[in-house]
Amino acid sequence: MQDYQEFLEEILIPEDELQERIRELGQEISRDYEGKDLLLVCILKGGVMFLTDLMRSIDVPHNIDFMAISSYGAGARQSTGSVQIKLDLATPIEGRNVLIVEDIIDSGHTLTSVINFLNTRRPKSLKICALLDKAERREVEVPIHYRGFTIPNKFVFGYGLDLDEYYRDLPFIGVFRTKPMQGIE
Ligand code: IMP
Ligand code: MG
Repeated sequence: MQDYQEFLEEILIPEDELQERIRELGQEISRDYEGKDLLLVCILKGGVMFLTDLMRSIDVPHNIDFMAISSYGAGARQSTGSVQIKLDLATPIEGRNVLIVEDIIDSGHTLTSVINFLNTRRPKSLKICALLDKAERREVEVPIHYRGFTIPNKFVFGYGLDLDEYYRDLPFIGVFRTKPMQGIE
């Protein structure tokens, strides 16, 4: 595999800024959920780095669980909010305070479907914590209760987000560089 540097236009959010903001989000969540039952639901795979750092910043007792959702595929558009659940929760959520932990919200369709799906199970509350918000791209309104960063309309990778399933391990958020075709200056 080639080195990621080749695909990196610029580092959009360096590691220290990510970690600082995640600590703040953790503190805010800890205040809001103090004395309440809390279940963090991580959307795989992109949300996994965010979850593990976020939960270390949350100092109220909580559980974690995971879901995986089918993606639309590169460049695909979908006007409906229907997505496929590839992995469902192991935990019943009826009567629980659920906080969805997601890497990035783009059009908003994925999260809208997840919210509709989970609401059928009657959680006590259902809130969203998203690390990245590509706000310009929104097609359906999504209530984001905890937002890490609003980012420009650029394809990003690293810190959980992949380029063809690689580079999720990078500790920063980088902007993908579209290489010019060979022979074109
Ligand atoms: P939405 O349904 O359009 O909001 O899509 C959200 C999903 O698209 C995210 O959970 C990511 O999996 C993926 N996605 C959107 N933008 C990016 C990006 O810039 N880099 C990597 N994945 C992205
Ligand atoms: Mg995702």
